[in-house]
Amino acid sequence: MRKRSIVIFASGSGSNVEKIAEYFADRSDVEISLILSNNPKAGVIERARRYHIPVLLFDRTGFYQTDQVTSLLQKQGVDLIVLAGFMWLMPVPLVQAFPNRIVNIHPALLPKFGGKGMYGHFVHEAVVGAGETESGITIHFVNEQYDEGQVIFQATCPVEPTDDAEAVARKVQVLEHRHYPRVVDEVLQRLDLQYEL
Ligand code: GRF
Repeated sequence: MRKRSIVIFASGSGSNVEKIAEYFADRSDVEISLILSNNPKAGVIERARRYHIPVLLFDRTGFYQTDQVTSLLQKQGVDLIVLAGFMWLMPVPLVQAFPNRIVNIHPALLPKFGGKGMYGHFVHEAVVGAGETESGITIHFVNEQYDEGQVIFQATCPVEPTDDAEAVARKVQVLEHRHYPRVVDEVLQRLDLQYEL
């Protein structure tokens, strides 16, 4: 079987990248071939180095005004693009080049608390502010709109009346780390089934 290639877009601390790298570390059939980031200061860069995963940095102009990233990923024969803490909207040509092959994780139960500006602590503050009794994670395919692609998986956690945004963030992060690597793996296996049809 051909080795499957994952690339990950990440611009934050990279804790999800690390969990995904750990999960696939012993797998000879799957390779995390590249981390792409717009943030040279992101914690994910150091984590990538520890796992010997190459990093490609790009800026806004390169990402939106050229097809460099899309054509590189096409040339590399990438099977799945994983977003893990990447804040920018995917350019339309990139989405169109990889239909149902880009997945994102959002730290809330979409369709609630999604869309532009809903990231990081803003999400958890909104959840607490709205008096929600539960939050969670949504793993979904990426389309041309923020947080609107088809949902693949959700998991929930309770929000207690005494929880502040930080408390909710901690619970949500536990869910992310527990589920994202496994769901990425499942999406990859489904791609394999499609290949065999
Ligand atoms: C996660 O909360 C994820 O849901 C969101 O960005 C955050 C990334 O965290 N899309 P990390 O960089 O993986 O620690």
